[in-house]
Amino acid sequence: MNKHMAIAIDGPSGAGKSSLARRCAEQQGFLYVDTGAIYRTLGLAVLRKGIDRRNENAVMELLPQLKVELKYNEEGEQRMFLDGEDVSSLIRQPEISLAASDVSAHGRVREYLLEMQRKLAREFNVIMDGRDIGTVVLPNAELKIFLTASPEARAQRRLLQLKEKGTEVSFDEVLKDIRYRDEQDSSRAAAPLRKAEDAVLLDTSDMTFDESYQALCDLIKRRREELTV
Ligand code: DC
Repeated sequence: MNKHMAIAIDGPSGAGKSSLARRCAEQQGFLYVDTGAIYRTLGLAVLRKGIDRRNENAVMELLPQLKVELKYNEEGEQRMFLDGEDVSSLIRQPEISLAASDVSAHGRVREYLLEMQRKLAREFNVIMDGRDIGTVVLPNAELKIFLTASPEARAQRRLLQLKEKGTEVSFDEVLKDIRYRDEQDSSRAAAPLRKAEDAVLLDTSDMTFDESYQALCDLIKRRREELTV
């Protein structure tokens, strides 16, 4: 039996899932798992190998040849390794987002990655964020949250993040990218992005980061209290 507690946070890209979930995990003493980083690492690998990422067989052939590792450094920060190389920063590039979205559309690729994600939830108390955590990866999670915001609000936030990192892009480009990924992540046949029936909806369109953080942490604290009663 699973004696650890799992919190699933799903939602579209740019809803602030990772920064919010990471902070709440720190506050609650949970391990934070960013599953998008796994798909991003595969996206980087297929780009480097130059294979057709829309071809499921070609991607599947590549997978056993890759060493994809998710590790935590001394500060408790998640790092991604591809064949021994720390690619945690590289996978944040915009072109990797699209490659990740493409490889994540393949059912067999998703299946291949399931155990890696479930193993973490068996071994630790986790706050895991992604697209299908509450629906597929951890359907028995003690708390499921669907965290979302309007495409415009998400584009605005993503733009700021990219600018801070020195990446020059326009609002329209970012919005277009967000809409494209929303469409692709929600319409794919394999584990599409959708709210689990028993997930709590948290829409942060009109909230500041601190308000969203409070709202998310409150949901988690309340659920933990309920479970210890
Ligand atoms: O959360 P993110 O933007 O880093 O995720 C990158 C891509 O990976 C995104 O387009 C959707 C996909 N993804 C997924 O299909 N399932 C997950 N659990 C996490 C991410």
